[in-house]
Amino acid sequence: SIRCQSTNTKEPKSSNILDNASNLFTNLLSGGSLGSMPTAEGAVSDLFGKPLFLSLYDWFMEHGGVYKLAFGPKAFVVISDPIVARHVLRENAFSYDKGVLAEILEPIMGKGLIPADLDTWKLRRRAITPAFHALYLEAMVKVFSDCSEKMILKSEKLLKEKEVSSREGDTIELDLETEFSSLALDIIGLSVFNYDFGSVTKESPVIKAVYGTLFEAEHRSTFYFPYWNFPPARWIVPRQRKFQSDLKIINDCLDGLIQNAKETRQETDVEKLQQRDYSNLKDASLLRFLLRDDLMTMLIAGHETTAAVLTWAVYLLAQSPAKIRKAQAEIDAVLGEGAPTYESLKKLEYIRLIVVESLRLYPQPPLLIRRTLKPETLPGGYKGEKEGHKVPKGTDIFISVYNLHRSPYFWDNPQEFEPERFLRTKESNGIEGWAGFDPSRSPGALYPNEIIADFAFLPFGGGPRKCIGDQFALMESTVALAMLLQKFDVELRGPPESVELVSGATIHAKNGMWCKLKRRSK
Ligand code: HEM
Repeated sequence: SIRCQSTNTKEPKSSNILDNASNLFTNLLSGGSLGSMPTAEGAVSDLFGKPLFLSLYDWFMEHGGVYKLAFGPKAFVVISDPIVARHVLRENAFSYDKGVLAEILEPIMGKGLIPADLDTWKLRRRAITPAFHALYLEAMVKVFSDCSEKMILKSEKLLKEKEVSSREGDTIELDLETEFSSLALDIIGLSVFNYDFGSVTKESPVIKAVYGTLFEAEHRSTFYFPYWNFPPARWIVPRQRKFQSDLKIINDCLDGLIQNAKETRQETDVEKLQQRDYSNLKDASLLRFLLRDDLMTMLIAGHETTAAVLTWAVYLLAQSPAKIRKAQAEIDAVLGEGAPTYESLKKLEYIRLIVVESLRLYPQPPLLIRRTLKPETLPGGYKGEKEGHKVPKGTDIFISVYNLHRSPYFWDNPQEFEPERFLRTKESNGIEGWAGFDPSRSPGALYPNEIIADFAFLPFGGGPRKCIGDQFALMESTVALAMLLQKFDVELRGPPESVELVSGATIHAKNGMWCKLKRRSK
């Protein structure tokens, strides 16, 4: 059961000994210094009912933009307020680290950028940023379209086989979540590692190991007690044994790739890279910029997230045939029968907006995680409080991107899928300290970003630790979606309500995103 109440009003009514004990722990942990903060209290069982991020939304409606979530012995501060989020992510970014997230990811990503402590992060971010140069991205559009084409050809082949074998064969059923997952893995393999996973068309031990590792990362992000830190667990617990063997397969593969990159490196390559001459470079991948831990980080960060964006874009579009037709009219006008190029991406405005609107409704990940490195005072939020709450050192913070993106305080019809919303200009709702929504605040940007909505829109985070692959992922998603809709009409196989959400690092469809693909009649 869930008990929600504000500490400003009544004492919590504890129903059993366990709850009493957890309240005691919570109070000890938070030391009373979070005392005036509204509090939502949950029982351990709440973690198994529905995804946590959905419960955080209900509590946001009840308790407002900053509240404390007490879960047994754990207490988190949940932020759903753009002014406070901006403070934590940008204005005061170096007073926080990745806390729980770093603990979970460190065994997998080591000192990679996502979990990295501040000192490591500063060095590595500086080294990696040049790798995502605009000309590199331009060169990658070809990789995106080549890989997407393989996915389309595979679907067309299945369709043909069906046409031959049955009369009602103009439609195939596919789990698009799985297809997009393979596609995104192939793309990240080629563009970051210069390695062809070939997962759209076949399975390999490395792919299986990558999935196994992602699966474990997800398990760790939702499991209560970090038993994996207890060394014998590696040998005793079967899933931990499997995790260790998966890691070994990936590490051996990465070592091979790094070795290969070293051996085949030609001095002229370095010159071409320095001159940003990607078109004449045999291997334009990022291998030369990255260390092992960064490679692993890119593999995980760049694969699941992009696949999830495409999956939810299809889910939303499939419920809106008029929007599919509008998208297809744009694709026909811009691309005809051809493949997208960097130049044509600029003209695919509606497809780009579909991608960002899908990220608004289904942000990946739905929560950002931080921990205070010193005592902090949060700013007052959208309700106009002059000063916010004091939080002690070591406080765990969730910034709920999902809540921000669906907040009725900052968006019209927040639960509706309306890609066109990003074209509107809007006043600030009179909220002091929040600059409001204004696309002209980010001139020249191909995609709407956190600046235009002053941190009420955070699909890639914000501030210094903002996603390094944002443009890469957005372009990749635009290309893949455009190429799918160019050839097919898409419907969900069952009613939308039958698609069940589960969340780990990203939001998944529990039983896949089963869709009907029908060849487009022109
Ligand atoms: C960080 C989202 C694709 C690499 C982040 C963060 C978010 C995010 C929200 C910030 C995390 C935080 O503040 O705690 C996404 C989404 C993607 C995507 C939604 C796809 C649609 C990619 C790709 C790559 C990538 C394709 C690399 C090729 C990274 C890295 C960081 C990061 C390295 C850490 C940056 C740092 O701490 O300096 N991503 N990402 N991401 N992402 Fe992405």
